[in-house]
Amino acid sequence: MKLIQAIIRPENEKQVIAGLEKNGVKAFTRLDVLGRGRQKGLQVGAVRYEELAKVWLMVAVKDADLDHAVDAIKIGARTGNPGDGKIFVSLLVEARTIRTRSTDVG
Ligand SMILES: Nc1ncnc2c1ncn2[C@@H]1O[C@H](COP(=O)(O)OP(=O)(O)OP(=O)(O)O)[C@@H](O)[C@H]1O
Ligand SMILES: [Mg+2]
Repeated sequence: MKLIQAIIRPENEKQVIAGLEKNGVKAFTRLDVLGRGRQKGLQVGAVRYEELAKVWLMVAVKDADLDHAVDAIKIGARTGNPGDGKIFVSLLVEARTIRTRSTDVG
């Protein structure tokens, strides 16, 4: 199992989630967050925005779904401009569904 954490533009969230769903990945957790990447925010005229609004998506997937899920995020989140976001993937040691006592992520 893998844990995907994606930081994306809020305006691209809907199409990312639709893309995940199309690939069979239905469950996720989202948070509104502030962050910055390598440009350290955004300069608009004399005003510097040091932290920009992003959406943090957390998706736990089976190994077999990883590539599809990452592709869906990449496609849905990309504009080609700085600030499109990041995708972090890590190993997920355990997932428990409380109701069913299943140890599967699905
Ligand atoms: N190294 C990092 N660690 C944790 N969060 C990060 C990191 N880099 C970026 N982020 C998060 O991702 C958001 C989007 O980052 P962003 O797309 O600007 O990355 P970037 O590396 O600067 O790429 P680009 O050059 O395309 O802008 C940031 O606002 C921040 O929340
Ligand atoms: Mg950036």
